[in-house]
Amino acid sequence: MAGTDAGDVQADSPVVVVANRLPVDQVTDDDGTTRWQRSPGGLVTALEPFVAGRGGAWVGWSGSAGEAPEPFESGGISLVPVELSEEEVDRYYEGMSNASLWPLYHDVVEKPEYHRTWWDTYVQVNKRFADRTAEVAAEGAIVWVHDYQLQLVPAMLRQRRPDLTIGFFLHIPFPPYELFTQLPWRSAIVEGLLGADLVGFQLPSAAANFVQLARRLHELPTRGATIEYDGRTVTARAFPISIDVAAFDRLASSPEVLARAKEIRAELGDPQKMILGVDRLDYTKGISVRLNAFEELLEDGAVEAPATVLVQVATPSRERVEHYVHMRETIEQQVGHINGVYGSIGGPAVHYFNQSMPREELAALYRAADVMLVTPYRDGMNLVAKEYVAARGDHGGALVLSEFAGAASELRQAFLVNPHDVAGVKNQLLRALRVEPAEGARRMRAMRRHLAKHDLDHWASSFFTALRAQA
Ligand code: ADP
Ligand code: G6P
Repeated sequence: MAGTDAGDVQADSPVVVVANRLPVDQVTDDDGTTRWQRSPGGLVTALEPFVAGRGGAWVGWSGSAGEAPEPFESGGISLVPVELSEEEVDRYYEGMSNASLWPLYHDVVEKPEYHRTWWDTYVQVNKRFADRTAEVAAEGAIVWVHDYQLQLVPAMLRQRRPDLTIGFFLHIPFPPYELFTQLPWRSAIVEGLLGADLVGFQLPSAAANFVQLARRLHELPTRGATIEYDGRTVTARAFPISIDVAAFDRLASSPEVLARAKEIRAELGDPQKMILGVDRLDYTKGISVRLNAFEELLEDGAVEAPATVLVQVATPSRERVEHYVHMRETIEQQVGHINGVYGSIGGPAVHYFNQSMPREELAALYRAADVMLVTPYRDGMNLVAKEYVAARGDHGGALVLSEFAGAASELRQAFLVNPHDVAGVKNQLLRALRVEPAEGARRMRAMRRHLAKHDLDHWASSFFTALRAQA
């Protein structure tokens, strides 16, 4: 690779991370004062501890439209904000990223829309990210570009800075040829990604989809995981993302969190069974499915409220995108209906929170819950499932997990479900609620053994080892 010896690319050397969002989000309070809070989503959960531990830089958007703040330090990371105008937020972020690419890559769970103005703005914003990164990256540095919002950045960056080693990681699924080729700008996206030395995916099937596209759409020579392109070899492989398992385990077994877990059960009226859902409020997460399944179990008399309750925590997300507005209305109506029919004064069947909660509170909820319900129609990984397992150092609790979450290929001892099959979800939910403690503990132990080895460090170091091998 131009300007880089293999020895330059050290596993622990600082990297420049490029992601649509910075790890912190700028919010403006009612009185007009601004402050920073942790950004939503799994990408930040995984990457923030990784970058903080190495002293790297992070190029990203502050989460609000308008002039970008000056670069600043936060939590050991040097943050480099990129500006987005109102119109760019509308077309690049809410439009192309979240109303075209997000639904297309998630199996068309909702119908993607394609607009040329959105695409033009996507190109323009990707250029800005590439320009800003080219300015801040040191000679021969490693740059790690993330996710579907920035798929053109690898090629744009290589053009500006051929001395860099460029990795790309896609946090969401990558669709098969038949779906991907709907995209009017399919060739530009593939060429954008081929600018990287290493393109990482959550699952081997996603990496294979990409290699197949390079071969069928671009007629490029491929061999196994490698693609020959423009005189270089690009590798496409799976690196299933994870969390800082030990840190989450420690947090969830701290005396404060354990005390809070008990308190939560008491505040819920000491139910016999507590079921939990924790998600970004996204239509891919299958929140309606689990509400349907719970409602039918109440209707069948298989469970009763408030002896069994469902707690659903859903962080607000992408609130101006139409699909999200509809979904929120549907879910809130469903919750209202279930509580109207099956709740009592002071004893709702579903406790619904449309809020973001601190990590300590989430850890306490995980620790308090008998059953964790994770039912996405499609999900790149789903870190909530991994957090739940990491939190259960007591080997208690049971995980109901969709087969269509990336996590299902690792957490095989979960109660796996097809979220399209409500009867199947009901069945598995009942099995999880009724599991014998010894059987539950056996499953939890096996999943924890897997996670102990496959944690965040394992993910990052596998990626860097592969990237080093490319250099
Ligand atoms: P996604 O990246 O699609 O949002 P993941 O499950 O991979 O899905 O990651 C979600 C992350 O956001 C997890 O770290 C989870 O703890 C966090 N999270 C989800 N819901 C909430 C919430 N209500 N409050 C705070 N954090 C949340
Ligand atoms: C997922 C995506 C991330 C995104 C996050 C939150 O994890 O993979 O790229 O940052 O959701 O979504 P948002 O649109 O709020 O950034």
